[in-house]
Amino acid sequence: MIEIAIDGTAASGKGTLGKKLSNKYNFPYLDTGILYRKIASYIIKENINNTSDLEKQCCDFAQNLILEELKNENLRTEIVAKLAAKIATFPDLRKILNNKQKEFNKINKKKYGGCILDGRDIGTIILPNADFKFFITASLEVRAKRRLLEKNISFLHENDEKCMLLNLINNMRERDKLDSIRKISPLVPAKDAYIIDTSLINAQELFFKVSNIIEGKK
Ligand code: CDP
Repeated sequence: MIEIAIDGTAASGKGTLGKKLSNKYNFPYLDTGILYRKIASYIIKENINNTSDLEKQCCDFAQNLILEELKNENLRTEIVAKLAAKIATFPDLRKILNNKQKEFNKINKKKYGGCILDGRDIGTIILPNADFKFFITASLEVRAKRRLLEKNISFLHENDEKCMLLNLINNMRERDKLDSIRKISPLVPAKDAYIIDTSLINAQELFFKVSNIIEGKK
């Protein structure tokens, strides 16, 4: 049974890699960021961001989350991402979500012979004994450009595009920093992770590189 852990910075190519590997090997894939994003979007919807018991409210909501139901959620806005990074620092919330991620891995590994998770602390905390650990990153500018392309905005005036790109760069820089310096489950490569910089390679090249490592072809 094979466990594959993918961690890394925002928009580094983790998600695309996870999906491609999932298709190739027929192992279920979980984008764990969706859990944090789902809770963040709930907070926004309920307008409870400033309540004194925010962590408790997040925990209550998290207890009832069903991972399989989150797969088709579209929660990829910058506001949601920013709030996700804030609540991701709550220790009790992480405990609940960690258990759900471990359970997902346990069940699917047994059923399909393997499982793929991507996030920030997969190789360090969730699957410390994973067979393969990858830490994916890229320069801030490259990642911001990728995220802008993902937004699929058909026509933008040059100045608006520049402005959006700058905003994305600032948001991501802030989020990477918060993710990396937090005390609990910080974004750091596991000691035994393959660290791959995707600044100069595309999604397909990353996929080949990682597949070769998994298949022992290095
Ligand atoms: O797609 P992107 O890399 O931009 O973000 P994401 O994976 O959806 O994660 C959103 C936020 O959730 C991150 O910035 C982290 O603060 C948090 N997160 C986490 O703390 N641990 C994880 N395993 C996954 C996400």
